[in-house]
Parts: sequence; structure tokens; C-alpha cells
Amino acid sequence: MPKRPNAQPASPGSARIHPHQTFQAEASDGFAAPAPDVPTALLGNLSPAQFMRRYWQKKPLLIRGAIPGLAAPLTRDELFALADRDEVESRLITHARNKWALEHGPFARDELPSLKQRAWTLLVQGVDLHDERARMLLERFRFVPDARLDDLMISFATDGGGVGPHFDSYDVFLLQVHGKRRWRIGAQRDLTLEPGLPLKVLQHFEPDAEWLLEPGDMLYLPPHIAHDGIAEGECMTCSIGFRAPSATELTSQFLYHLAEKLAERVDNAQGANVSDQRYCDPQQPAVTRPAQLPAALVQKVGAILAKVRWDDGDVASFLGAYLSEPKPSVVFDPPRRALDEVRFIRQASKAGIRLDRKSLLLYDERAYYLNGEENPLAGAKTWVLELADRRRLSGKRFVTLSRHPSMTARLHEWYCAGWIQVGELG
Ligand code: SIN
Ligand code: CO
Repeated sequence: MPKRPNAQPASPGSARIHPHQTFQAEASDGFAAPAPDVPTALLGNLSPAQFMRRYWQKKPLLIRGAIPGLAAPLTRDELFALADRDEVESRLITHARNKWALEHGPFARDELPSLKQRAWTLLVQGVDLHDERARMLLERFRFVPDARLDDLMISFATDGGGVGPHFDSYDVFLLQVHGKRRWRIGAQRDLTLEPGLPLKVLQHFEPDAEWLLEPGDMLYLPPHIAHDGIAEGECMTCSIGFRAPSATELTSQFLYHLAEKLAERVDNAQGANVSDQRYCDPQQPAVTRPAQLPAALVQKVGAILAKVRWDDGDVASFLGAYLSEPKPSVVFDPPRRALDEVRFIRQASKAGIRLDRKSLLLYDERAYYLNGEENPLAGAKTWVLELADRRRLSGKRFVTLSRHPSMTARLHEWYCAGWIQVGELG
């Protein structure tokens, strides 16, 4: 996990969030998460609550006309331009004469195959980080916690293009945004992959359902459902993907986080006798086998490790920091000519503020976590929760904030770092 600037410890038992304190009820402005109990075309006229109960992580759902009249968030040329940027993750997959090939971007326009060539696919990851229209599309899926939302990937394919029959370990909404794609899916148990290929392709694919998706149609797949989507003519598909870190990843990252916290605590324990933090062996006899690991060493270190303790607060603090950490490729764009604090306050009081689309802001009962940094919620609760859930604050709301110089100073710092921007709209 990349190192972040020193995190401030959360003050235990400080702010509590009241159950009614959510912002979707107030929001008729389209920026709040979709209301859990209102049926929506997006989910085939199920409410988000019904969808989560019946389908999420359980079974696939085909939704015709999930977003009626939907246009692709990006044109083909805009997508190709993104694939040419260093900080954007892109892949090119071709399938010719029964051979799969995979290349990683960036791709200059003339490095992509001709549009006349059949069966190639360009995948562009994290489009929501670079394009406001893609980010707005992702907003529709915030009935799932942000902690689970990963990114919006867009695929472009020429006729016959696809990435082969495979399965994913994550939930995904496959939203058709341009042209047609034929999806076949199967709940098979045998998930053996073809050996020696540069991408995951199933050895035996046994589809049990098939649909042709047109713009606005969407297919939800829980993890481990085998699927294969083949373009019928040129097409574009958005994948709204979720993240679910493995137990191994969580364990190693948590232990790393805990080790850093323990080191901070030792550093802060001024004047304390820390000699007992270190291994010592006054009873060590002289040895004839110097290379042998002393049994006493193993026992003593085991005893030191057995004293390591953590509680739910440490777990929350780890998860908040870890899950709000931007991906390594993310670079924020500070304003070219930043407003000074006074002008920033004046502008923000009129136009409001919004989180930059690359910013990740999560919170729990004690703390908030912005781009990997932890801060206590106490004193900031009235606005941080709203900024996190709506990803914006109105000018009117900002005025109430501007009475607290420490808050506006903090917001000005975030603005200078490119973490927030002036203006509610992007
Ligand atoms: C694609 O959009 O071509 C592939 C998406 C997927 O199968 O997960
Ligand atoms: Co897939």
C-alpha cells in the first residue's frame, strides 16, 4: 500500500451518525444515490432493495431498456483518444485463426487495427476517472456502497469481436451503449481455463441462455457466471465493475497498516521504556551449531506476536484508508491558477463545490477517509457526510461552513491539490 501523509488518529466515541442522517431523501437534484425502495427501469422495475435481495451476488438478470434512449457516454474516437494516454489502462484483444492475442496500451490511433478488420476488441479501464459523462453513468449504481464500486470500463469491438468465454470474480453490470452484442451465459461448475493463453478463456463453455442486447439493455452477472459476448457489427459495451478484495490481499494489507500504526504508537510513546519491544536473550548459551535458529528465539518472538491486538476501530480505519486510496495510476490535476483562500470562499459560496471525479471519500461513525487519508469526523460531520454521499455541496451549504475558518482552510487545501473543485456541476 503506498504511503500516505501522516493520518490523524480518530477520536474514539466522537461523532455518531444518526440513522436518519442520509441525504437521498432531500435530494431531488439527481445527484443522490437512487432511493432503495423506488422501482427503477434501471433494474427492470425492481427497486434497488428488491434487486439486492433477489439478484445481487445470487443470479443473473437481463434488463431490457434499463436506460431507454441511452447514447454512448463517449464516441468511438474519444475512446480511442483515451486509449492513447499513458495514465489510462487499455488492452487490445484480437482473435484470428483461432489464436488469441493480448496487447497492453497506450495505443496511438494508427496502432489499433483497421475498423474494417473483424473480431478485435479494445478495452479501456477506469473511464469514469477521465470523463464526466462516464462518471455520471456510474452514479446510477450508487445503491451499492462506494466501498464496493470499482470502475466503468468501456469496450469497443468490431463485428465478431469478444474476449472469449470466461468468468469474472466480481459482480458486473454489462450495459450495451452502442450497436449490438450477443451474450451467452452459463452457470457451469467447470471453470477450467485454456492453458497457456494470454487471457482467461474457458476450456469448456456450456451456455444455458442467450440474448442479443441493444443500446440501453443491460445484463447483471454475479461472480463466477461463465459468459461470452460477441459483437454483431461494431459495438460498445460499458462494464460497471465492483471490487471484492481477496482474504489474502486484505490480510496482508491490514497487517501492513497495523504495523505502521504500531510503529506510530511506539514513536509517540515518549519517555516510555521501549526496551521490552525488542528481542533480548541474556540467557543465550554459547553454541556449537551457529547456523541453527535458536528455539528460544522462536518462542520469544511468538510471545511478542501473540501480544499484537486490534479491534473493529483498527479494521475500520484500515478499510477506510485502503478503499479510499486512489489507484496507483491516478494523478490529480491541481488548478492551473489556484484562487487564494478568500477568493475560493467567495466563489464556493456562490457556486458550491464538488469532489473531483478521481476523489474517493468514505466515512464511518468516527472518521472520514479522503483519498487514503483518515481524519476525525468530529466537527466536520455536518458537511462531510453530505459531500461524501452527494459528492457535492451547494453554495448555500458552503456559506454555513465558511463560518469555520479551519474547515474552509482544509477545503482550500483540497482544492489546491485538485481533490475538489469549485462549482456543483462538472
Ligand atoms: C466486453 O465488454 O467485451 C467484456 C466484458 C466482460 O465480459 O466482462
Ligand atoms: Co467478463
